Amino acid sequence: MNHLLKLSDLTSEEIISLLNLADQLKYEKKNGIEHPLLKGKTLGMIFEKSSTRTRVSFEVGMYQLGGNALFLSSNDLQIGRGEPVCDTARVLSRYLDGIMIRTFDQEEVEALAEYGSIPIINGLTDYAHPCQVLADLLTIREYKGKLQGLKLCFIGDGNNMANSLIVGCIKCGMSVAIACPDNYKPDAEIMAWAAENGDFTCTSNIEEAVKGSDVVYTDVWASMGQEQEAEERKKVFADFQVNEKFMALANEGAMVLHCLPAHRGEEITDETFEKHASEIFDEAENRLHAQKAVLVELMKD
Ligand code: CP
Ligand code: NVA
Repeated sequence: MNHLLKLSDLTSEEIISLLNLADQLKYEKKNGIEHPLLKGKTLGMIFEKSSTRTRVSFEVGMYQLGGNALFLSSNDLQIGRGEPVCDTARVLSRYLDGIMIRTFDQEEVEALAEYGSIPIINGLTDYAHPCQVLADLLTIREYKGKLQGLKLCFIGDGNNMANSLIVGCIKCGMSVAIACPDNYKPDAEIMAWAAENGDFTCTSNIEEAVKGSDVVYTDVWASMGQEQEAEERKKVFADFQVNEKFMALANEGAMVLHCLPAHRGEEITDETFEKHASEIFDEAENRLHAQKAVLVELMKD
């Protein structure tokens, strides 16, 4: 593994091995065992969109591993004034040991990896959010003791989260049902791959999708960059809400996960969110542990 650009680049074994390493690092941290595996290393973190969890968990993760992290806002970098990604990649490769980037186009992340000579980590694009899904899988495995054979239902927009959940869950032997409005389906190629490689459905019938689920997942109706569509989306997605009515159709003890930030009263009710708050905030914590595993795997000598 040289980069983390999207989960479809990883084998099932590579994903499971990252989760195992994350478990180990989490155990060590909780038990006061230091692990300065990236001593002297520096991660550059380029942000072209806002972030709470990704920024803080990567920065803290690097410190806990004995290294440093640099926050690089695209407003301040020359990349924000038109310096090509291919040049930025080659320059930053001379200073840094790895780059985490949050941006719009997946192509930009792929170009950094192509032109740079250091590991590149996708911290969210319009297409994918692989770091979040590694944390999600870690959380599901902690609560359920396994991944294989479980069913995840995603209710909402067929966005970056839906795309990455489909790939990550199918690769780990889970079945996936997406409930979304007809014109808001996940990426067509990802859906075709999932249908060929696992148990996958995509429907606008929420009841059908949520039935028998072990994990119910949702995300905002309007992602970063879609702010101008927010009002229109509120109408289109009005029924695509995680609430107690739909949770009654899921399996007994089903989990609810949300990558956060959440809009209570839109994609999830306050009641359902608070009932599952311990799962959702364990999930947020696991961003730290899962990403430390990614950093170690990619940046350790
Ligand atoms: N879930 C997630 O990526 O959160 P941030 O946007 O706060 O980084
Ligand atoms: N789909 C959301 C995820 C935020 C973590 C977005 O892209 O804004």
